[in-house]
Amino acid sequence: MQKDKLSKHYPRNLPSWKKLTKNYRSNKKVKSIKSLFTTDRNRSKKLSIEVGDLFLDYSKNFIDTDTVDLFSQLASEANLSDAIERMFSGSHVNTTEDKSALHVALRSKISDKIALNQDGVSQIWPTLDAMERFVSDLHEGKIRGSTNKKITNILNIGIGGSELGSSMTVNALRSYWKGNLNYYSVSNGDQSEINCVLKKIKLDETLFLICSKSFNTIETKNNATIAKEALEVNFGKRAINKHFLGVSSSREGMTDFGIHKDKQFYISDWVGGRFSITSAMGLPLACMIGMDNFYRFLDGARLMDMHFKNASFDLNMPVILAMLSVYYTNFHNVQSQAIICYGDRLTHFTDFVRQLHMESLGKRTKIDGSPVNVNTGNVIWGGSGSDGQHSYFQLLHQGSYTIPIDFIVDAGVSDDQMDTYSLANCLAQSESLMAGMQEADPERSIDGDKPNNVILVNKLSPQSIGQLVALYEHKVFVQSIIYGINAFDQYGVELGKKIAQSLSKVISKSSRYTGKNPSTRALLSKIREYKKG
Ligand code: F6P
Repeated sequence: MQKDKLSKHYPRNLPSWKKLTKNYRSNKKVKSIKSLFTTDRNRSKKLSIEVGDLFLDYSKNFIDTDTVDLFSQLASEANLSDAIERMFSGSHVNTTEDKSALHVALRSKISDKIALNQDGVSQIWPTLDAMERFVSDLHEGKIRGSTNKKITNILNIGIGGSELGSSMTVNALRSYWKGNLNYYSVSNGDQSEINCVLKKIKLDETLFLICSKSFNTIETKNNATIAKEALEVNFGKRAINKHFLGVSSSREGMTDFGIHKDKQFYISDWVGGRFSITSAMGLPLACMIGMDNFYRFLDGARLMDMHFKNASFDLNMPVILAMLSVYYTNFHNVQSQAIICYGDRLTHFTDFVRQLHMESLGKRTKIDGSPVNVNTGNVIWGGSGSDGQHSYFQLLHQGSYTIPIDFIVDAGVSDDQMDTYSLANCLAQSESLMAGMQEADPERSIDGDKPNNVILVNKLSPQSIGQLVALYEHKVFVQSIIYGINAFDQYGVELGKKIAQSLSKVISKSSRYTGKNPSTRALLSKIREYKKG
C-alpha cells in the first residue's frame, strides 16, 4: 500500500495557501460581492463554465480572478493532476483499505482503456450486458411473477449508497420511466417502512431488488427478510427465485440469502457505496428507465469524467466547485453548505450529495496518519428550493451565519406557468441573497453578500443527471486531495454499529448490559419501564 508522505503542515505550508489567506483578507475589504460586478463588467462571463448540459455561474462569490488563479495554483501544488491520474489508472487511492476507486471505469468505453488491467474492470461490460438482457426481458413482459402475472412494481431494498443514488436518479428521471412500473424504496431500519410498502403492493407483481455492497448490512438484511417471509407465506418458497434479485460484491451473501445465481449482479470490491450508482447498483434505475437511457446516464457521467481529467484547473467545473468549498470552509470558516434544488424531480439530490460529502470528507486524519490541520468536511443540507423558501430561507437571508449555496435548477423546462415560476424563484433567490436590500428599518433590511453558485441544467435527462453525479463525485475527490485525506473509507460509522449489536441483545433481554456508560444504563432502564407500560 502506498501511503503518500505529506508534510506535517500540509496544506497550510503550500505557497498558494498562504497567498489565498492574503487574497481572502483583501477580498474581505471589498464592501460587497455586488461591488465586484461594477469593478469588472465581464465578471459573470469570466466566472462561469459550461460543460455538456450544465452551466455553472460562480460569479456571486467573494472571489476575484486572482482567487481563481490561486485555486489553480493550489491544485497544482497539491499534485492534483497526479492524483487524478492515479485514480483513473486504478492505483490504490483508497489507502486505508488498500483498494482502487474506479467508478470512472464503470462508465468508460473499452476504447478509453481505463485501468483495463485491474481486477474486475473486464467484468464491467459483461455485467452491463446481463443487466441489458434482464431489463429488456422485463420490459417485454418476459419476466413474470410466481403466479405468472406481469411485474408492475420494483422495490429497492438497500440503504446509504445502495439506495440514495437509485432513489435520486429514479425520481429525477420520472419522465423517462418505461414499462408501467411503480418504484418503491425501503431503507429504514425499523419495520414500519417495509410493512407499510408491503401492505400497498401486490407481492406477486413485485421484483425485490436487494442492493447491498457487503450484503451484511443489518437494516437491509432485516427488511429483505421481512419481504422474503411475506412472499413465502403467500406464494410459497419457490416464489423467491422469481421475485428476488441481488446486487452486491458478496456472491456468498446473495447465495446464502437465497438469491438464485442467475439473479445475482456482481459489483467489484473497489466500487465504493456512495460512488456506486453507475455500477450494477443502478439496476433499479435501469429497470425504471430502460437500458438505452441507462447507457445515456453512463455517457453523461463519462463526459464529466473526461472534462475533469482534461480541462485546465481554472476551467474545470469539479475543481472550481471544490476550491470554493475549501475556500469558504477554511478562510471564511463556514460550517455548512446548502444544496438547494428547484423542481420536484431533483428533491432527492441533496440527500445523495450529503452522503457523498459527509462520508467522504468527514475525516480528521491525513493519508499518512498525521492529524489534519485544516477544516475538512462540513455539513451539507438543503433540499427543495420551493419548500425551503417557505421554511428555512429566512435564516439564509437574515440569519447570523453565512451559508454558501449551490442552487441547481432544470432550465430546460416548459413555458408552463408553474415551471416558469420555479425557475424565476431560483434566480430571484440567488440574486437577493447576494444583493440584499437596505431599508431604514434594520429588521426589514437584508444584508446580502450571501455567496452562491447557480447550476443551470439544460433539461433533466439521463445524460445531465449522469453529469451532475460525476460533477459532485469529482468535487469531493478534489477536496480530499487538497485536505490530504482519503475520500473512500468510512471507519467512523463502525463504532455505533458495533455498540448497537450488543445493545440489541440487552433490549431484547438476551443479555445484560455490561457497559459502563451511566447515560446508556439510565436510558435502558427508562426503556424497560416504557415497554412494561
Ligand atoms: O454504514 C455506512 C455504509 O457502509 C455506507 O458507506 C454504505 O453506502 C451503506 O452503509 C450501505 O452498505 P451496504 O451497501 O454494504 O449495505
